[in-house]
Amino acid sequence: MRLKMIAAAIFGAVVVCSAWSFAYPAEQQAPAKFDLGKREYDSKCAVCHGSRGKGDGPYAGLLNIKTPDLTTLAQRNHGMFPVLWVQEVIDGRQNFKAHGPSEMPIWGLDYLAKARESYTDPYEAEAYVRTRILALTEYIYRLQVK
Ligand code: HEC
Repeated sequence: MRLKMIAAAIFGAVVVCSAWSFAYPAEQQAPAKFDLGKREYDSKCAVCHGSRGKGDGPYAGLLNIKTPDLTTLAQRNHGMFPVLWVQEVIDGRQNFKAHGPSEMPIWGLDYLAKARESYTDPYEAEAYVRTRILALTEYIYRLQVK
């Protein structure tokens, strides 16, 4: 009796596992090399901050103020990467209200406009915005000099 139950449990596990692999075919899983933060950075930020984050993009020289080096954020902050600061600067919606316009585009508004094309629920739209900003923050974290 006991042996039968164990056999049934094993059979059940095999059925569940194979159903799982049918339910999630390889093409629905994220490609191994998919790097959302890098993709966003290269298309939106590198033009000013430079392809390696050094503040030397082709637009940098055209601005009234110096484009910061994003690879020394941690170094300039006693070795701690300033996660919240980076997120808020990229988002820009808070800063804009507090300090008026800066040379940095307000990405939070850009992403929100894009999100509203796909989401009617404001929470879903906000989740889209924050995911993009988080991916960028994580990518900039990886650019930090040791
Ligand atoms: C048009 C040029 C331009 C683009 C494009 C741009 N930035 Fe900036 N960024 C600046 C400038 C100039 C500053 C300096 C602060 C200011 O003007 O408010 C800055 C500041 C920053 C800071 C704060 C740096 C510090 O030392 O505290 C971060 C982080 C940052 N940018 C990230 C990004 C990210 C991520 C993107 C792309 C989504 C981006 N920037 C796109 C020009 C740009």
